[in-house]
Amino acid sequence: MKAFQIIFTAVLLLAVFMAGCDYKFIKPDEGEPVDPEVPISFSEEVEPIWAAQSCTNCHNGSGLFSLQEGEAYQSLINNNLLDLEDANNSKIVSTPGSGGIHSNYTYSGNQKQLIITWIEQGGEDN
Ligand code: HEC
Repeated sequence: MKAFQIIFTAVLLLAVFMAGCDYKFIKPDEGEPVDPEVPISFSEEVEPIWAAQSCTNCHNGSGLFSLQEGEAYQSLINNNLLDLEDANNSKIVSTPGSGGIHSNYTYSGNQKQLIITWIEQGGEDN
C-alpha cells in the first residue's frame, strides 16, 4: 500500500510538472487568454502588433495608410477599419489572413483577440 502511495504521488508530481512545462513552452505561442474585464491599452498592446506582424512593410503611409506607431489610430478612423457594433466585422480584424496579398500576413497567438477585445471596450486611443 505504501509503495502504491509513493508511485501515485510520483505520477501526480510528474503530471503537475509536465503540465507546468506545457504551460511554459506551449502557451506563449497561443498567447495568454484575453480577460475582457482588464482594460487594453491601444498604444502599449494593440499598436505594436502591426509592426511585429510586418504589416508596416506596406502600411507605412507611402501609398497605403500607415499602421506605424503614432499614426495607426488615425488610419483606423480615417479608413473606417473599426466596427464598434460588431468588432469581429472590423476590417482591421478580418483582413489579415483573408487571402490575396494578406494570406501570408496575419495575426498570431492572442493578437486577434486582443484587438477584438480592445474594440469591444470602445476602441479608444488609450
Ligand atoms: C505586401 C504588402 C502588404 C502587407 C504586408 C499588408 N498589407 Fe494590408 N493592404 C495591402 C494593400 C495593397 C491593400 C489595399 C488593397 C486591398 O484591400 O487588398 C491593403 C489593405 C488593407 C486593409 C483595408 C482592407 C479594406 O477592405 O479596406 C487592411 C485593414 C489591412 N490592409 C490590414 C493589414 C494588416 C493588419 C496587415 C498585417 C497583418 C497588413 N495589412 C499587411 C498590402 C499589404
